[in-house]
Amino acid sequence: MSLSDRIKLRRWIPTDADALARLAHNRKLWINLRDRFPHPYTRADADAWIAHCQAEAGQPIQFAIDLDGLAIGGIGIEPLSDVHRLTAEIGYWIGEPYWGQGVASAAVTGMTRYVFAEFPFERVQALVFQWNPASRRVLEKAGYTFEARVARCIVKDGLVGDGFLYARLRD
Ligand SMILES: CC(C)(COP(=O)(O)OP(=O)(O)OC[C@H]1O[C@@H](n2cnc3c(N)ncnc32)[C@H](O)[C@@H]1OP(=O)(O)O)[C@@H](O)C(=O)NCCC(=O)NCCS
Repeated sequence: MSLSDRIKLRRWIPTDADALARLAHNRKLWINLRDRFPHPYTRADADAWIAHCQAEAGQPIQFAIDLDGLAIGGIGIEPLSDVHRLTAEIGYWIGEPYWGQGVASAAVTGMTRYVFAEFPFERVQALVFQWNPASRRVLEKAGYTFEARVARCIVKDGLVGDGFLYARLRD
């Protein structure tokens, strides 16, 4: 079976909590994500995240990345506001045991297609921390364009760094 047949983006469900708590508790994820992604990541954090996602009204914007029936990562968008309201920021992570198999590239490709089909956004963007070349490659494979290196716009774990801005525009 091809990878694209094995991967699904689907709603988070309560029975994902064990896998979520186990895979998300990883500093290698946290170091590349916003500080609001918890570390340490507890079972209570997993339950709270799933409850938050289940309460989403309207078209969902947060999904579990399901590989062969197991939630192995997460992907979602955050709509920006005010004059940026036609932009969505995409975020994603994959559990470390599943890295390097093309899962993130497939998930970002599928999510981007969904976002442009279901929402009026003109632009989906991501800001990759400078120490994360794998994520830059994921975005390139998903058809995103590198737009700019934004100097010293990140502070993570006490380190100040640059962000690499990638975007995909509505065709
Ligand atoms: C970044 C992340 C999502 C990648 O997930 P993944 O499923 O392993 O990604 P894929 O397998 O689809 O693609 C990874 C690509 O990066 C490449 N890569 C991996 N490590 C790399 C490195 N150190 N330098 C350059 N490229 C690298 C891989 O070779 C692959 O490219 P290829 O298919 O051309 O060989 C995953 O490592 C992760 O969850 N990291 C922590 C959270 C995160 O960074 N989220 C994104 C925030 S912007």
